[in-house]
Amino acid sequence: MSDARALARAYLEQQRLVGGDAVVLPGGSGIGARGAEGPRPESRAPSPEPQGDLPPPGLSFDPPSGDLFSTDPIQQAADLDAVARLVAECTKCRLCESRTHTVPGEGPAHARLVVVGEGPGRTEDATGRPFVGQAGELLTKILAAIDWPREQVFICNVVKCRAPENRVPLYDEIAACRPYLFRQIELLAPKVILAMGGTAAQTLLDTKQSLGALRNKLHRFRGTALIVTYHPAALLRNPNWKRPTWDDVRIARRLLDR
Ligand code: URA
Ligand code: SF4
Repeated sequence: MSDARALARAYLEQQRLVGGDAVVLPGGSGIGARGAEGPRPESRAPSPEPQGDLPPPGLSFDPPSGDLFSTDPIQQAADLDAVARLVAECTKCRLCESRTHTVPGEGPAHARLVVVGEGPGRTEDATGRPFVGQAGELLTKILAAIDWPREQVFICNVVKCRAPENRVPLYDEIAACRPYLFRQIELLAPKVILAMGGTAAQTLLDTKQSLGALRNKLHRFRGTALIVTYHPAALLRNPNWKRPTWDDVRIARRLLDR
């Protein structure tokens, strides 16, 4: 690697750590600051033209998916039920100790929209179903507002077991659990992913950038369009965020229609 490239790479990594914006290549495709052979800093373009009524490109995360010969049971899970069965027996992190039920997620296997939250709350832990408490009721309304009934959406979370007192899941818990989420998305092959809240957005885009920095961009997860918005629980606390959330889900809807 040339010195200039090494320098560019170090610069991009710094940018990523301080929560800098996505780097946009002149060709128009946005990549994350950890993009393979990073572009030189001077190729950082001014805000690109939005594509029609869509937001500018953002980050792109391409975690490797399992190959045919993988012996990892998660990679071998042939369908969503198989993933759920593995989750039900999972003890890969400490959250297994305090859970009542695992909450793998639910929805049709052919769902075109996947909604990802943070992790089960009290009601979810009690029932084994995602987004069924207060935040879930709001999610149902948000989906109804874009005319995309909840029954047609696969709804899940980054971690599949409730964290004590609903604290934010810790880094190692997320790292232990995310292979289930990634496999679910791989099996679903949706058209659009809606990441609700910072934990979902940062996990799916492999970034530490803030929710504010990630919103209103068209990101990609393994090539699939990914939109970031506020978590419904945050909306319950801060109604000012309802308007931007509405804007975000309408973008998701437009992508579904394309
Ligand atoms: N909050 C989440 O992030 N997920 C749920 O399933 C419920 C509340
Ligand atoms: Fe396993 Fe995920 Fe539950 Fe941790 S949170 S025990 S990794 S299913």
